[in-house]
Amino acid sequence: MKMQQDLDKLKKINKIFIKTFGCQMNEYDSNRIFDSVKKIGYEKTDKYEEANCYLLNTCHIRDKAKEKVYHEIGRVKKIFRSKKKPLVIIAGCVAQAENQEMLKREPYIDLVIGPQAYHKINDTILNYIEKKKKIEETDFDAVSKFKYLSKIKNEAGKVSSFLTIQEGCDKFCHFCVVPYTRGPEYSRPFKQILDEAKYLADNGAKEIILLGQNVNAYNNEGYRLSDLILNIEKLPEVKRVRYTTSHPKDMTEDLIEVYKTSKKLMPLIHLPVQSGSNKILKLMNRKHTIEEYLNTFDKLKEINSNIEFSSDFIIGYPGEEGKDFKDTFNLIERVKFINSYSFIFSPRPGTVAENLDLIEKKISIERLEKIQTTLFENQVQMNKSLEGKVIDVLAENLTDDKDKAFGRSEYMTSVIFNGKVSDIGKVVQVRIKDSNKSTLFGEVITSSDQKVA
Ligand code: SAM
Ligand code: SF4
Ligand code: F3S
Repeated sequence: MKMQQDLDKLKKINKIFIKTFGCQMNEYDSNRIFDSVKKIGYEKTDKYEEANCYLLNTCHIRDKAKEKVYHEIGRVKKIFRSKKKPLVIIAGCVAQAENQEMLKREPYIDLVIGPQAYHKINDTILNYIEKKKKIEETDFDAVSKFKYLSKIKNEAGKVSSFLTIQEGCDKFCHFCVVPYTRGPEYSRPFKQILDEAKYLADNGAKEIILLGQNVNAYNNEGYRLSDLILNIEKLPEVKRVRYTTSHPKDMTEDLIEVYKTSKKLMPLIHLPVQSGSNKILKLMNRKHTIEEYLNTFDKLKEINSNIEFSSDFIIGYPGEEGKDFKDTFNLIERVKFINSYSFIFSPRPGTVAENLDLIEKKISIERLEKIQTTLFENQVQMNKSLEGKVIDVLAENLTDDKDKAFGRSEYMTSVIFNGKVSDIGKVVQVRIKDSNKSTLFGEVITSSDQKVA
């Protein structure tokens, strides 16, 4: 009876607008939050003005993350100035870091919910509607979260679907907030993940991207990431498997060996190194050396020379001297990373590196520009080298004007080609005619699904 009354109330206020900042894990979470609130009558809207619930899923990794959130709330306030105020929920990593403070500082915020408390979201909303009590839910309870979510179907229904297998981090790199915002490392039960993968595949997923802050640290009763890959690729509907983000220290032999046997694991490995200098890696508490990193690189290249690497770099970490930067530069020349991310070090509250002496901003900017130029050149060269060649592309959707199709190469590069609706969800062969830094352009030769083996 009571639940019915709550649902009746919701029927009048049932449109949610979800805005997501940050990493793929936040994207996965936003989809799962929506899967959950659907059960209490919410529909999704992509128009601010239509919403009566506004949820901001936040990221705390760099810069003025907190200020960005308040700025965004200011925008929402303006949009709703002459309308009824929506229910405002702050989720994600800033919610975890700031918790109670957010409710105090900004009365426009109604609920604050951290990344390991999403199993409580429906009750929290219903409770607010009934009692108008503002609350903050920021316990680390990954077990209950995933137990709850495993009972609610993952309705993402995309050709390429995310699947979180691991959360949190025990590594405590000195620059990083993740261990504080996502809590300790937790690996979801093996069977729970396989069930979710099967459900995704049954509902149209052709590519599954396994996610974790340290995805290759996955360990559930002895099952490792390698076991998940080999089991998920048995699903006939699944054409491609990927995983991200890996830590170099957790590139174990079993995972390296999978590259010999797997039929569907894509040949792009995102393996953040942060710096090419052992001195800086030590200062960052990264727990591996450049020699160990290159050893993993060499082993994988020996198994399959087509494997390519992408990475994350932090430039201008406190203590970085010219020779340390040169080491990073040399590493980039040696590995020829593609698709990499690079940022200037941003001091984060509560981390060991928070109060270290920063190096001169001008120097950091110069160094960043230098490595970005080289990283982009690698990317341009890689794309140019494909012109005239035929590559496999997983077609994901039609472009907005419906004129062309969008898909991705094995290396995750965007490909625009003359595909049709019937190509969506298929791996098609595309002859590349042209390219720029981020995109390949081509024409379909044939659907490789129809190829005779
Ligand atoms: N777990 C992954 C690893 O260890 O490589 C990284 C996850 S973190 C969410 C993504 C990236 O954000 C990091 O690889 C790092 O380059 C960047 N990052 C984290 N903290 C940062 C900071 N304080 N300043 C600049 N970049 C940062
Ligand atoms: Fe952050 Fe380091 Fe953990 Fe990666 S391994 S999430 S960079 S603390
Ligand atoms: Fe950002 Fe949290 Fe992801 S800080 S990068 S949203 S784990």
